[in-house]
Amino acid sequence: MKPHRLLFVCLGNICRSPAAEGVMRHLVAEAGVAEQYVIDSAGTGDWHTGQLPDNRMRQHGAKRGYAFDSRARQVRPDDFTNFDLILVMDRQNLRDIREFAPRATDMVKVRLFCDYVSDRPETEVPDPYYGGSDGFEIVLDLAENGARGLLKALSA
Ligand code: 4NP
Repeated sequence: MKPHRLLFVCLGNICRSPAAEGVMRHLVAEAGVAEQYVIDSAGTGDWHTGQLPDNRMRQHGAKRGYAFDSRARQVRPDDFTNFDLILVMDRQNLRDIREFAPRATDMVKVRLFCDYVSDRPETEVPDPYYGGSDGFEIVLDLAENGARGLLKALSA
């Protein structure tokens, strides 16, 4: 069977998308379906290339049992070939990622991550970078909720 290939995307690839990636990896492993998934993350910006996720994001994740240890990279045009579903954290990401899409039609692969979040009002994952610790907890709450929604949608 062909794996589901998922790419999580935010601006810097050091807070929201590595958290979504790590939570999704954890969830599919726990569900015993890790081999059915290819999971990665990237940023529309390149300022943090090669860096580990933000320490605050790692610390909040560790308190919930996650190890966020991916290395930041920028989105590439071949991501549109190598992934089936590209999940962006906010509408700015949705606008910015267009410039990496080889063809306009490739944008059919791109969805807002919050399309998979249920029973919460957010339609975007708020950028926690310039805020306090609450923001990182909200990112994790949304990541856990949306990852469950994705697993359910893709297992159906
Ligand atoms: P992220 O958060 O997009 O969730 O990784 C940010 C990380 C870095 C910056 C902005 C947002 N920055 O301006 O450097």
